[in-house]
Amino acid sequence: MILRCEEIERPATGDDEVLIKVRAASVNPIDWHFMRGTPYFLRVQLGLRKPKATRLGIDVAGQVEAAGTNVTQLKPGDEVFGSSRGAFAEYVCARASSLAMKPNNVTFEQAASVPVAGFTALQGLRDKGHLQPGQKVLINGASGGVGTFAVQIAKSFGADVTGVCSTRNADMVRSIGADHVIDYTKEDFTKSDGRYDIILDNIGNHRFFECRRVLNPKGTHVGVGGATGNWMIGALAGLARTLIVSRFVSQNFVVFIGKGSKEDMAILGELMAASKVTPIIDRRYTLSETSEAIRYLEQGHARGKVVITL
Ligand SMILES: NC(=O)c1ccc[n+]([C@@H]2O[C@H](COP(=O)([O-])OP(=O)(O)OC[C@H]3O[C@@H](n4cnc5c(N)ncnc54)[C@H](OP(=O)(O)O)[C@@H]3O)[C@@H](O)[C@H]2O)c1
Repeated sequence: MILRCEEIERPATGDDEVLIKVRAASVNPIDWHFMRGTPYFLRVQLGLRKPKATRLGIDVAGQVEAAGTNVTQLKPGDEVFGSSRGAFAEYVCARASSLAMKPNNVTFEQAASVPVAGFTALQGLRDKGHLQPGQKVLINGASGGVGTFAVQIAKSFGADVTGVCSTRNADMVRSIGADHVIDYTKEDFTKSDGRYDIILDNIGNHRFFECRRVLNPKGTHVGVGGATGNWMIGALAGLARTLIVSRFVSQNFVVFIGKGSKEDMAILGELMAASKVTPIIDRRYTLSETSEAIRYLEQGHARGKVVITL
């Protein structure tokens, strides 16, 4: 698979869209899944023999350059962030409804880090975990893109947060608000004495019965990410088994896909404006280095988000 940066016409703005001059975009695991067409079952949607959509990138931040005739909330010059397919570009068109104003206290790079990872963390904790103040939350994979948002969002809800990460990321995870850190290179959280109301699982490296052991009787395990094999047959079989067996236990096991939402974009904007959430950026790449950025993220060891800056 070859990722190439090429000159194309500036996109035409639809009536409900704005043209954005991109200042930053961020990379997500979904970008390399789209690029590689893996796991293979995704090809039913993405294109069987070659990708239907050839422009990559979803998360974007930049300045509005032009607004379509039906767009009343945004005008040229506004600084925005949000989602748009083809965000790894100098200009991109986005539906006005998938954008929000960038808070003044965050950079374009930080704002571009938010959409996919921020929606997933917020919706996983709030909508699937039904997070309440004072609850005990464990974030498995606390140092990655989703995890660094999840730790901060869970804290902003008043939770007692445990982050699972490696030794080199322990201080960073503590610094963004985790009350406790479990170093996965030294300790298996499923064998710990802790009991949690919610486990937000970005890694999916433990079996159903192992996670169940550390969940409170009415606790919820929210599956966000997991195995990334080409076929993922084993992982899907494990998931099916988990969903069936979970019907017979008191705990709740859910898996979900985060969704773009104007309301949630506004909530994430407010959390940033109030300095309750500050996106963590690991590495910055230029547009022509996008393939290197994706290759780095694909290794699975990013500390926070990887961004493309323009
Ligand atoms: N359901 C959805 O809607 C949705 C949305 C976004 C992402 N996802 C999925 O969620 C997963 C996480 O996404 P992401 O953007 O956070 O990925 P990411 O940024 O690539 O995550 C990398 C992080 O995972 C940590 N990690 C690796 N192995 C670990 C382990 N055994 N225990 C604890 N932490 C470990 C790494 O820390 P070390 O370097 O210390 O190992 C690194 O900080 C991916 O599988 C992604 O496909 C799902």
